[in-house]
Amino acid sequence: MKILLLDGSPKAQHSASAHYLRAMEAFLGGQQTLLWRDARSFDGAAVARDLLDQDALVIAFPLYVDGIPSHLLVFLEAMEKSLKEHQAAARVYVLCNAGFFEARQTRLALEMMKIWCEKSGLAWGKAIGIGAGGMALAAPIGSGPFAKLGKELQTLAGLVLAGQSDHDCFVEPDFPRFLYKTIAHFSWRSQARKNGLSGKALHRRHSYVPPARHAPAQAPSNP
Ligand SMILES: Cc1cc2nc3c(=O)[nH]c(=O)nc-3n(C[C@H](O)[C@H](O)[C@H](O)COP(=O)(O)O)c2cc1C
Repeated sequence: MKILLLDGSPKAQHSASAHYLRAMEAFLGGQQTLLWRDARSFDGAAVARDLLDQDALVIAFPLYVDGIPSHLLVFLEAMEKSLKEHQAAARVYVLCNAGFFEARQTRLALEMMKIWCEKSGLAWGKAIGIGAGGMALAAPIGSGPFAKLGKELQTLAGLVLAGQSDHDCFVEPDFPRFLYKTIAHFSWRSQARKNGLSGKALHRRHSYVPPARHAPAQAPSNP
């Protein structure tokens, strides 16, 4: 079976998306022909051509502003344009990971991916929305807080190999939400300090100043 794995994170290193794809690679087993691509350094139209003889496409990406990162959007648009000319038979499976603890935060981005599939003439397989996505880099997938995620990825791999679809699901680590938030805040403050900023700078707000309006035209005065 031929499977294209697409890393949709802009990060070349330490990306959660690449981490999930590597886990998928392990669950898919060594007998498949896997093709790795990323949306940072590859051209969308070229990857669309690569997809023509693949059975499945597995895309992993981070949630950005409740949607798809802009570089990935441009990449997907180029793929879509090419796929409208050359029909591909691959089924699409999506992993979207969010910084928020709540996995359902990814639902709008997953809807966007479904629309992209429809417009590109590709069949939807299944999506997994992952909350507290970056945390998975800290522990092995399949055990501890990520036991459930491991099971879901294994199920997904089974669907990919069988060429089947299933309903989407949302997974969060088995870890207290308040503790995740406390650790995240601590880590942001420490990163801010390393970059020469105070903790207060993280809360700074820039007030929006609307552009000056043109003065309304003066009504003609009665003679
Ligand atoms: C510019 C930017 C926008 C983001 N927007 C969101 C968001 O809207 N919701 C959210 O839950 N996480 C958001 N995040 C956090 C990322 O989704 C999160 O860190 C993710 O684990 C990164 O995955 P990656 O390592 O695969 O790139 C944002 C991160 C960045 C850099």
